[in-house]
Amino acid sequence: MDSPINVFSDWALNGKDEGMAKDHSSSVKNMIEYSTKGLAEFSFIDAGCGNGWTVRNISSNPKCKKAIGVDGSLNMIEKAKKIDPKNQYFCNDLMSWSPPAKADIVHSMEVFYYFEKPDLLIKHVYESWIVSGGRLIMGIDFYKENTPSHTWQEDCCITTMKMFPQKEWIKFFKSAGFKKIDTWFHGKDGNWNGTLIVSGIK
Ligand SMILES: C[S@@+](CC[C@H](N)C(=O)[O-])C[C@H]1O[C@@H](n2cnc3c(N)ncnc32)[C@H](O)[C@@H]1O
Repeated sequence: MDSPINVFSDWALNGKDEGMAKDHSSSVKNMIEYSTKGLAEFSFIDAGCGNGWTVRNISSNPKCKKAIGVDGSLNMIEKAKKIDPKNQYFCNDLMSWSPPAKADIVHSMEVFYYFEKPDLLIKHVYESWIVSGGRLIMGIDFYKENTPSHTWQEDCCITTMKMFPQKEWIKFFKSAGFKKIDTWFHGKDGNWNGTLIVSGIK
C-alpha cells in the first residue's frame, strides 16, 4: 500500500496518466459544459490536475481568462509543465495550498476521495479558492452507489480512499456553505453507476 500521491507519481512515469485523460474525458466534458454555461468569461482551477490535460483543453476556450492546475505529484506537475509552458501549474497538497487569486470555477475530477477528511478540503476550497458567486464542481467514480468501484482501494494498493454515498457528499458541500447545490450521475451503463457529479455556488 502506498499514498495516493506516490501511486500517481508512478502513473506519470509509466504512462497510465494518459489512460485517465481518455477515461475521464466524457465526464469532464459534461462538467465543463455545465460549469461554464452562460459565463461571459471565467478563471479556472483544476484541483488534482494530474498531467494537466484539462487545463490545456480549457485554456483554448476564448472565454477562459486564466487556467491553473495544482497536484501533489511532482512527476505529474513536471510532465504538465513540459507539455504546456503557457499555463500555470503548482505542486502542492490541496489541503495546504491556496491559489494566488480566487477563481470563478474550481473543477476536480477523481480526486476528492483521496483525502482523510474530504469535508475539510471542500471547506478549505470554499473559503480560500473561490470568488463569491463562483462554483465548485467535483466528479468522482469511487462512491457507495457505484459497486464496481468497491474493490479499487485493494486493486490499486492506495492507503487513503474514502467511500461515501451521494447524500454524504452533498452534506459536505452544504456544511462548507455552498448554495444552489446540483448533483447527478453521468455515464451510467449497466451496474456502472456513472460519475457522481456535485456542484455548488459560493
Ligand atoms: C485519479 S488522478 C486524477 C487526475 C486528473 N484529475 C485526471 O482526471 O486525469 C488523482 C490525482 O490526485 C492527485 N492527488 C491525490 N492526493 C492529493 C493531494 N493530497 N494533494 C494534491 N493532489 C493529490 C494525484 O497526484 C493524482 O494526480
